[in-house]
Amino acid sequence: MHPLQCVLQAQRWGPLASVSWLLLRTCRAHSGVPSTACPSSERQQEDGVRKDFSSRLANGPTFQHFLRSASAPQEQPDMEDPPPYLTVDELLGRQRKVYLETYGCQMNVNDTEIAWSILQKSGYLRTRNLQEADVILLVTCSIREKAEQTIWNRLHQLKALKTKRLRSRVPLRIGILGCMAERLKEEILNREKMVDILAGPDAYRDLPRLLAVAESGQQAANVLLSLDETYADVMPVQTSPSATSAFVSIMRGCDNMCSYCIVPFTRGRERSRPVASILEEVRKLSEQGLKEVTLLGQNVNSFRDSSEVQFNNAVSTNLSRGFSTNYKPKQGGLRFAHLLDEVSRIDPEMRIRFTSPHPKDFPDEVLQLIQERDNICKQIHLPAQSGSSRVLEAMRRGYSREAYVELIHHIRESIPGVSLSSDFIAGFCGETEEDHLQTVSLLREVQYNMGFLFAYSMRQKTRAYHRLKDDVPEEVKLRRLEELITVFREEAAKANMASVGCTQLVLVEGHSKRSATDLCGRNDGNLKVIFPDVEMEDVNNSKVKVRAQPGDYVLVKITSTSSQTLKGRVLCRTTLKDSSAYC
Ligand code: 5AD
Ligand code: SF4
Repeated sequence: MHPLQCVLQAQRWGPLASVSWLLLRTCRAHSGVPSTACPSSERQQEDGVRKDFSSRLANGPTFQHFLRSASAPQEQPDMEDPPPYLTVDELLGRQRKVYLETYGCQMNVNDTEIAWSILQKSGYLRTRNLQEADVILLVTCSIREKAEQTIWNRLHQLKALKTKRLRSRVPLRIGILGCMAERLKEEILNREKMVDILAGPDAYRDLPRLLAVAESGQQAANVLLSLDETYADVMPVQTSPSATSAFVSIMRGCDNMCSYCIVPFTRGRERSRPVASILEEVRKLSEQGLKEVTLLGQNVNSFRDSSEVQFNNAVSTNLSRGFSTNYKPKQGGLRFAHLLDEVSRIDPEMRIRFTSPHPKDFPDEVLQLIQERDNICKQIHLPAQSGSSRVLEAMRRGYSREAYVELIHHIRESIPGVSLSSDFIAGFCGETEEDHLQTVSLLREVQYNMGFLFAYSMRQKTRAYHRLKDDVPEEVKLRRLEELITVFREEAAKANMASVGCTQLVLVEGHSKRSATDLCGRNDGNLKVIFPDVEMEDVNNSKVKVRAQPGDYVLVKITSTSSQTLKGRVLCRTTLKDSSAYC
């Protein structure tokens, strides 16, 4: 028999489109652990489990079973109705300890909380101590080669830990979750035999089953991408009780297909979470006392809730002027402006941010809303990627430098004092010195407050991989990146200087990492503000002096700035509503 036994399986709780696959391999031949390393009693036990498992698999579900159950609506796996080859008991965590490690973007931070919420419901416990973990899960990123290399290195370190634990009663299980699992699929299982499970970004509901399969010494994978999974009903677990802010995922995937980007391949098609479930989550966070939510997605402002028939009219989408899409124009659905409006009404003391948007989706109604609502932060991330229209065309971004600059002017006119940030890629395919200088000049022209700059990293599957040549030498990419960073810092320092002497509203996060006598918080533009931890007046009760606590709003007079931080003197404790007159 071929060692790789593939079972094509439709997800029990998924729609018909959700045909998942499960990779099962026997421990001895493929775990990478020499069979002599298994103590014999354990081996016998494993043989027993394997036989039991194989017989159950043989008597297991038919293809018809999957077709039947595949049309059921998406819901949490039902613990009382496990897959035919597993018992209810095997699906339970039985207090095993899970250690979760997150790499990459904020989406991954949110995914970690979703994965944990699912495992917690199954009876797993969470540990922050790697040494006592029974299960280690790495939530991974594939956006650049370097991000993946970090994971490979980490796996090598974990190998030693796993080998040490081979003789223990509960062997250590290791899982790769997220984008890297999706991109590399079985290549990970082949290269790193110590990896027990793979779960792509849309397969976290399947974690209890994957871990149950892994318990029997098999490798298990579900890297199915879904057209409708948004984890709408999974309330992420807030991991830090003292946190002042939280991320709320509003949509997943991306349809833009920028030519350099792996995201559409690792996170799949764009889909939005129903408005009602987002509002419910934000309400709960407000009740818990959180003071800031960031609406999260690969393309937040392309949000479109078409979950109910009455939302689906024939009204087509308003794009920013001079912008186009790589996909067929979409129609109908509740759009981002509607969501932002509703979210911002929940709690006037709760700050609202969103990331990451695409510049094409900033119609006037979104800008107007940001301008008029006190609790929507006047901060916009506007990823430009390049300042050269020629490169933007090769990147398939759907706009020229001129359209982008016009949008910047329009945003600044619509939202005076708005704080702007951007992403840039240095050394994309075919980028000449002249193109690079265009990016330098865009950085100078816009003078962003924050920037995220990267050297181009060719990713397989992307359009650039198939159609373009990664022809900018590595050292040139790095030199250009350095130049962009220098220019960005100079300009940000100038932009931030303008706030010296201004009074800003700061949401206190806690003590500064550098000094126990200072507090640290964020201004409306999301810049870090440091100020001495001293007693101050409370605007609502002038008789008492107070010390600011995490979650308090304070007014700070800015006294000095750098390219990344502001420093100041605290004036008083206040509320978001009371402070709007100052900003
Ligand atoms: N190489 C370098 N940077 C990339 N990004 C996306 N794909 C790549 C790549 N292949 C950057 C873009 C994007 C940010 C999240 O990561 O700037 O906006
Ligand atoms: Fe990638 Fe472009 Fe989608 Fe952003 S918008 S995730 S860069 S494809």
